[in-house]
Amino acid sequence: MHRPRTGGLFLITQSALNQEMVQARIEQVLQADGAARDVVQYILAAKGKGLRPGLVLLTFDLCGGQDFEEAINCAAGVELVHMASLIHDDIIDQSELRRGQPALYRRFDTQTAVLAGDQLFAAAFHLFALSTRRQVSAVMTQVIQDMCSGEISQLLTPVRTEASYLDYIRRKTARLIGGACRLGAILADETPQVEEDLREFGECLGLAFQLTDDVLDYRGEEQVMGKEAGRDFAEGQWTLPTIRAHERGLISSTWFLSDFTSLRTILEEFGVLGEVLQEAASHIR
Ligand code: IPE
Ligand code: IPE
Ligand code: MG
Ligand code: MG
Repeated sequence: MHRPRTGGLFLITQSALNQEMVQARIEQVLQADGAARDVVQYILAAKGKGLRPGLVLLTFDLCGGQDFEEAINCAAGVELVHMASLIHDDIIDQSELRRGQPALYRRFDTQTAVLAGDQLFAAAFHLFALSTRRQVSAVMTQVIQDMCSGEISQLLTPVRTEASYLDYIRRKTARLIGGACRLGAILADETPQVEEDLREFGECLGLAFQLTDDVLDYRGEEQVMGKEAGRDFAEGQWTLPTIRAHERGLISSTWFLSDFTSLRTILEEFGVLGEVLQEAASHIR
């Protein structure tokens, strides 16, 4: 499938169509029968915002890529990696809701959700392997290694400082978003410099994205987010709001033993949440 370079405006009007094509490719590649079919259908029933596949297609278009079919495959692969990571993340964080419905491990069980996540990773690599560019699989395996090693380090030695927090969110969230942007350049046969610039752009966006998500964990509404607020509090997970508030002596190191509303009030009234959003904006800039 070939398509001429289209420009941003066309892409915005076409983004709903692109999302449908990505979704259709995911549905095609995720096949199961018997009871496993129910699991796949449950996963497919709830869709996300489509940020990562959208970035693969936008950067591909920006770089004048031609093989749209390959770009759709890679965009679908990136979304599958993301979906698998969310399925596993919900088990780790013991979250109830994802994309407006009970988390997969809640609807079925933990064993099923672990395996379904693995199935999604495998489906993703089936799509990456279709690419004629060997770098695609190499980039994505490195991204997943970084995401997993980031999460494992966090579980074994939870972050408490701003530097270790930034390193952690870079690995668990920004690497995949950076990888998505890098794929667009790879698929358009761009120079290593452009690849590197787009990867860096994606990582900055990814840091901003996770900083914002960590603020929404205190400020956000379940109805809008499709997931509960307060999970980081419930899990005693240090994020930039609690790291900064603790550094300033606003909260003790056992803040997770207090109640959620009092903690949120402190973070809000001393301006910590607002500051973290400004930090996110600085990464975007
Ligand atoms: C959720 O990502 C995980 C984080 C990195 C915060 P998204 O907010 O992109 O999730 P969906 O894909 O829209 O559900
Ligand atoms: C992002 O962190 C998880 C992954 C990168 C898989 P969170 O744990 O904050 O994401 P949510 O809030 O559950 O979506
Ligand atoms: Mg989580
Ligand atoms: Mg979160």
